[in-house]
Amino acid sequence: MEGKGKHTKIGKSFGVGVVGLGEGKGVVKGLHGHPELKIQAVCDTDKTLTTEIREMFNIPNGYEDINDLLKHKDIHIVLLYTPDQLHVQHIRACFESGKHVICTKPLVTSQSEAAEIMKIKKQYPHLQLMVGQSSRFFGPMLKQREAYDTGKLGELSFAETQYVHDMRWFYNNRPWAREGGFDLLFACASHPVDLIRWYMGDVAEVHAFGDRSLIAKDADFKERDIFTINLKFENGKIGRVLGLYGLEHLHQTRPWIEVALYGNQGTFIAKYPQLQANIKYNNGVEHVEHYFEDIYHYFQYEGVNHHAGEFVNYTEYFARCLVKGETAMPDAVDGFKTMATLEAARKSMNENKAVKVERYVS
Ligand SMILES: NC(=O)c1ccc[n+]([C@@H]2O[C@H](COP(=O)([O-])OP(=O)(O)OC[C@H]3O[C@@H](n4cnc5c(N)ncnc54)[C@H](O)[C@@H]3O)[C@@H](O)[C@H]2O)c1
Repeated sequence: MEGKGKHTKIGKSFGVGVVGLGEGKGVVKGLHGHPELKIQAVCDTDKTLTTEIREMFNIPNGYEDINDLLKHKDIHIVLLYTPDQLHVQHIRACFESGKHVICTKPLVTSQSEAAEIMKIKKQYPHLQLMVGQSSRFFGPMLKQREAYDTGKLGELSFAETQYVHDMRWFYNNRPWAREGGFDLLFACASHPVDLIRWYMGDVAEVHAFGDRSLIAKDADFKERDIFTINLKFENGKIGRVLGLYGLEHLHQTRPWIEVALYGNQGTFIAKYPQLQANIKYNNGVEHVEHYFEDIYHYFQYEGVNHHAGEFVNYTEYFARCLVKGETAMPDAVDGFKTMATLEAARKSMNENKAVKVERYVS
């Protein structure tokens, strides 16, 4: 694929370190040649991978141990793409070294980890921690947010979000997904739950069902991988989230991630990985918008399997927040509200009843 990635202005230069080069290599490619965000070092316990990525993108330094990367004074922002269960220890190490952090989702895997993060954050109030919720930063979702923020949708009556993906490749290729502390509900449904909360606000109550798919049984994956979650928000409105990871024969024409917002002035349905949205405003005709001009930006590394464009978008947004002294969202507290919603969904499935969402952290 030929084309150009997009780099937008920050107003100040920052050194960046990237840890975990599975998903993380997408951002290394995306930030390559950025005029203000320069990757100073990459790190992965897999030495061959580190060397390969370092050489491919001409990165000055490569390490197998995060602590070596953190010694660099010219690294100001660290991007973490390590396995879920390592996020807390890596965030702590970054903060102790005075680095701002963007940590991929899910930020944590349990309430006790969330409490630990809050403790660490209190010790370092001058450092920012943002959750890398990539789906908020995909082209059609950004257009959708703009339409919402400028009042084109009016007041929302209902929202529906989904993440539907055949995750067999994941069950079979990620040994850490079969270890304790991993839950697909948290790892994957964190996307649609974050997206619905972004519009509908805090969740009061959920009623969720979960099942283990035929795919999971075949792959001997022990956890549930099909979820439906009905939500009632603090503002009294309702919504629905689908998290389906164990379905076969999915149609390529249907989005993996979809956000459908139904407002009294318009309806906007944003789709990933399609660079398109279905839109209908008050008194207007239903139409489809395509954003094909951004195809290279989003899919510049290993196509739809990676998230280069979204990762660049959120790193730039984060850096601009640092320059302006604003809190980059979703921050840890917002991330924990998503986790709390997922925790309530887990409880709802286990107890087979509607469950109130409890505060994750005080
Ligand atoms: N849309 C998204 O934002 C998105 C998509 C996929 C995965 N993720 C998240 O990214 C994280 C990694 O997932 P992945 O699919 O890339 O997994 P992966 O297994 O492909 O990559 C993880 C990498 O981290 C390395 N690693 C493990 N321990 C390490 C350590 N202590 N120090 C440095 N490197 C270490 C591994 O060698 C591996 O290369 C997970 O938290 C996952 O939820 C986010």
